[in-house]
Order: sequence, then structure tokens, then C-alpha cells
Amino acid sequence: MPEPRIAVVGATGAVGGVTLQILRERGYQQVRAFASARSAGRELEGGVVVEEATPDALAAGDIDLAFFSVGTGASRQLVPHAVRGGAVAVDKSSAYRLQDGIPLVVPEVNGERALEHDGIVANPNCASIPLTCVLKPLHDAVGLARVRLATYQSASGAGTERMERLRAQDPAEGDLAMDWEFDGEEFDEESKLRAETRKILELPELPVSATCVRVPVMVGHAESVWIETVEPISPEQVRQLLAAAPSVRLEDVPTPRAAAGEDEVLVGRIRADRAAESNGIALFLACDNLRKGAALNAIQIAELILARRPVTV
Ligand SMILES: NC(=O)c1ccc[n+]([C@@H]2O[C@H](COP(=O)([O-])OP(=O)(O)OC[C@H]3O[C@@H](n4cnc5c(N)ncnc54)[C@H](OP(=O)(O)O)[C@@H]3O)[C@@H](O)[C@H]2O)c1
Repeated sequence: MPEPRIAVVGATGAVGGVTLQILRERGYQQVRAFASARSAGRELEGGVVVEEATPDALAAGDIDLAFFSVGTGASRQLVPHAVRGGAVAVDKSSAYRLQDGIPLVVPEVNGERALEHDGIVANPNCASIPLTCVLKPLHDAVGLARVRLATYQSASGAGTERMERLRAQDPAEGDLAMDWEFDGEEFDEESKLRAETRKILELPELPVSATCVRVPVMVGHAESVWIETVEPISPEQVRQLLAAAPSVRLEDVPTPRAAAGEDEVLVGRIRADRAAESNGIALFLACDNLRKGAALNAIQIAELILARRPVTV
């Protein structure tokens, strides 16, 4: 199969750096790095030199696959140029996630949707990906009635600048943060989680209530999840279902530290939810937000597309 010509746009960022690393691990040879004019000419790990992500460079017709992790505004400006040049774009911002006709994909959950793309596939939020990996097998078995969750999201989820701030911080000053955009009732991170979970699972009415919190941890998001199912299910049956689920690994006590650097979603603390009126299960999960929560999920999406339609150049 000819080598796909790959562009990593946002290559100097937290997600872009991990994207380059995973592409190297998987043996991809034709990988170019793009970022803003600020970083053009910089040499990155692996020897690749950063190019400026101009509309002309992205539309030149010599890119098969483009991974975007540049933020919503820059994605809106740049993704259409890559698509115009013939690339399939996998975008990790929220620019296209909820747009009708654009697939929002977690390969283990709704991978077949990736093949319906019209040039753009959206990669979900780093909290939606592990959540849907865990909810999907439960929904298939007994149906989901409602989901409540609280997140514990690491600094790397907000990019390299936030990571630098945490590194420079006196640990005694560590605190929780809730500084997403606020609509007067919820943070946009919370409404995104609900809307994305509904779209990925194709359950447009599923009641989902989230409280999102940023914690002073460098890498790895965790989530406490309370699930009510339509049919009864025991904690032991949940354990069995999740042990067999793709990209899920059972752990007694999953933590961000244990999840960092791993490809799987760690799930544990599976127990009956004693506050639920019926069919309640509580569990805890942790996931590397830069890998399965972002870069790895996007690469898996691209590999689904490549497997179906190899590049022909
Ligand atoms: N971090 C996560 O866990 C995570 C998970 C899922 C999705 N995402 C999404 O991925 C995107 C990037 O996140 P990140 O955490 O990697 O951020 P980051 O560390 O701040 O990196 C941002 C990257 O975007 C580049 N960039 C910014 N504006 C640009 C422009 N106008 N043209 C070209 N390149 C531009 C930056 O290049 P310069 O170095 O030249 O400024 C840098 O490479 C965001 O949309 C975020 O929501 C992040």
C-alpha cells in the first residue's frame, strides 16, 4: 500500500506532539509538521521541521491525511483548505463536532460512521471518548436510561501553556479550576459532553448531567460516572461486559497516573449505585487525554478510513 502523506497541523502543541510520536511508533514515514508562523522553522523531536500552516500550503494537493489540533478558530479557518487540496481532515477541535453531516467518531463505538465523511471527520472531546467507550457496551446489553458524571481533568487537556503553568506552580498553591466558557448555568465543557455523548451513541434524548473540574494533574483525565440502565444489571455483569470491551481495561482503582502513556481506558470501582431508585451502577474511569482522548483516537479514525480507501498515489 502506498504511504499516506500526512500533515500534523498544530504539531508544536500538546496533542500535536503526541500525534507525531504515535505516528513514529506506528512507522509512518511521510509526516510533515505544521503550526503557526510563530513556530515555522523550528526542529521537533524526530528531526521534522515545522512549516507554516498557510491556506496555500494545506491546499497544495500533496497531503492525503491531515490531523488538526489547533483550536476551534484556527480549525474553522484552515481545515477547509486541506479538504480543498484533497486531504481527509481529522479535526480535534470543537469546530465541527456537532455539525450535521460531519461524523463524530470513536472507532470502538461508531467506527462505521467515519466512512461516511465528506472530507472532515471530527474527533470528540477528551472526556467524551473514554465515557462513550464505557457506555456503549452497557447500552448494547441493557439500555441506558440516564448518566451523571463528575470529571477530574488534567492540565494537559488545556494545552502546553497550562502545562507550563502547572510545572511552575508551588504545589501548595494547587487548586481545582472551572474556567470553561459559562452560559449562566453550565460550562460549555459540560454541555459539550452531553451533546457529544448523545451524537456518538446515537441517543439524542439520553439524559446526561456532568460537572467538569480541572485538577492539578499533568496528564490523564478521570471521571466518576453514575449510570441508570433500562434493564437491571449487576456490578459483576458490568465487569464482565467491560472486560470484553475494546480499548477498555479493568483496574481496581484507575488513576490518571496509571492511565498516562497507556492506550486503554482504565475502569474500576464498579459497584451498585445505592442512591439510584433502580438499576444504578457507579464506576470510575481514567484515560490518557492526549493519547486515547485525542491523538490516538484520531489516528485510529484515519486508519479506519485508510483500510477502506487506501491512498492511490
Ligand atoms: N489537550 C487535550 O487533551 C485535547 C484533547 C482533545 C482535543 N483537544 C483539542 O486540540 C486542539 C489543540 O489542543 P492542544 O492541547 O494541543 O493545544 P496547544 O498545546 O495550545 O497547541 C496548539 C497548537 O496549535 C497551533 N496553532 C494555534 N493557532 C494556530 C494557527 N492560527 N495556525 C496554525 N497553527 C496554530 C500552535 O502552534 P504555535 O506553536 O505555532 O503557536 C500549537 O501547535 C484544541 O482544539 C483542543 O480543544 C485537546
